[in-house]
Amino acid sequence: MNEDYYFNIKKKRPEEIYDKVSDYFYGERLDSYATSKNIQRIQLKITKRALEIIQLQKEHALILDAGCGPGFASFYIKNIGYQVVAFDIIKDFLFYYDIKDINPIVGDMCFPPFKPESFDAIVSISALQWIYRDIENKIMTHAFSELISSFYKILKFGSKAIFQFYPKNNTILEHMRIIINEKSDFDGGFIIDNPDNPRKRRIFLILEKK
Ligand SMILES: C[S@@+](CC[C@H](N)C(=O)[O-])C[C@H]1O[C@@H](n2cnc3c(N)ncnc32)[C@H](O)[C@@H]1O
Repeated sequence: MNEDYYFNIKKKRPEEIYDKVSDYFYGERLDSYATSKNIQRIQLKITKRALEIIQLQKEHALILDAGCGPGFASFYIKNIGYQVVAFDIIKDFLFYYDIKDINPIVGDMCFPPFKPESFDAIVSISALQWIYRDIENKIMTHAFSELISSFYKILKFGSKAIFQFYPKNNTILEHMRIIINEKSDFDGGFIIDNPDNPRKRRIFLILEKK
């Protein structure tokens, strides 16, 4: 990413209004997210792009879908022949569909309960903005730091994590970069698709454990 790239989204996003993700996704809103064909189509498109960016070479890889929601990415990953662990903090989301095949686990992705060097890749679609969105907030900074050091541990050497997410502004990205460098030996950075079109802009963070 060009370090001079500037953006600042004025419109308030749900994660700015609701403190906890479970205060936003429950009841009817959770149902309408999980059953929306349009959302499924968009999330699938983002997932395919994320996999294209990480260029996973290995067959039979084990992939963690962190913040999987109802499992749109997980089902796709499973259907193209990989093994997947679907991981989310909201149980009602995770068990919305019959998802035995995608190994559902409930938990907080900042404290993932997995052994070191478990995964060949980590994919996280539209979740990271719930974890780190306010650089002044010490709890969020701590949570993001924990996520980075944990993801570093649970990935195999030579493997990558990719996040697509909705940061508010470029300052968040700069702070993420600092925390990533402090807390891990990850290589990587940001990839921004359609940077000149705010409606179509997609921001990815890619990290490689060398
Ligand atoms: C917008 S939904 C995206 C769900 C799914 N990845 C998709 O593409 O449809 C954001 C998801 O992130 C999950 N999430 C947010 N914070 C989390 C955390 N700390 N640990 C695990 N999951 C989290 C939420 O529960 C929710 O399912």
